[in-house]
Amino acid sequence: MAVPAGHAGEESSETGDPGAAPHGNFINYYTFNPPENRLSLIPASLLEQLRWRRESETVLMLDVGCNSGDLSIALYKHLLQEQPLETDSPRSVHLLGFDLDRDLILRAQNCNPFPQNIQFIPLDITQESSHTELTSYVEKFGCSRFHLCTCFAVTMWVHLNHGDAAFLALLSRLASLCEYLLLEVQPWKCYRSAARRLRKLGRSDFDHFKTLAIRGDMAAHAKEHLEKQCSMELTQSFGNTSWDRSLLLFKRR
Ligand SMILES: C[S@@+](CC[C@H](N)C(=O)[O-])C[C@H]1O[C@@H](n2cnc3c(N)ncnc32)[C@H](O)[C@@H]1O
Repeated sequence: MAVPAGHAGEESSETGDPGAAPHGNFINYYTFNPPENRLSLIPASLLEQLRWRRESETVLMLDVGCNSGDLSIALYKHLLQEQPLETDSPRSVHLLGFDLDRDLILRAQNCNPFPQNIQFIPLDITQESSHTELTSYVEKFGCSRFHLCTCFAVTMWVHLNHGDAAFLALLSRLASLCEYLLLEVQPWKCYRSAARRLRKLGRSDFDHFKTLAIRGDMAAHAKEHLEKQCSMELTQSFGNTSWDRSLLLFKRR
């Protein structure tokens, strides 16, 4: 789906037009939520810490809803700075970032400093076909799953636009695709602000906002689903961002 990117931000009360970014596909996202806000909480040694480190020479990362790629690229650099240099065959780290917004993906592709190791593709995670495409990517490397999947600030947009079932299906899909999942879910107060901003603009509400049964403590809902339905367990919490969102690391049981 080609969706044009909009201005202003999910937390911002600026006068931009959030109605033009109904999927959170803000054109200027990193001007008000710079990569450092999340990176400062994520240990640079994360790849070294994860359990599969000695089993594989190739590390596959997936960044879901990567917007214009700024955080994906910054995260790649951040995690590579602690790669051991002394080994004969340093592990190769590959990152695939995707977003449903084609314009944002074009920007990500044009600004990608590591085209050998980082790829950006347009993809909508709610579409069945996304699973096939992502699975065939990992199979090219002889793997069955991504080692680390990151999903920052995407769950609310899928939830508001597609409803409760899609929110849970998103989590199930992510769990099925990776060994470790680093998740930042937007808290419920963000849902209310997103809906309020749309109303202020005189637009009709998000399709599902009023009828969502999953509400309240969104991180707890995500954790419950991942642990009870997806064979994952919470292994670490990296604390809260300046927007009061927790970064939670889950691993496959
Ligand atoms: C608020 S931005 C967050 C960007 C980035 N993950 C970050 O945290 O820096 C949400 C992004 O999710 C993307 N997105 C929303 N729904 C999506 C879907 N169904 N499939 C893929 N990307 C989606 C939007 O286009 C947008 O770029």
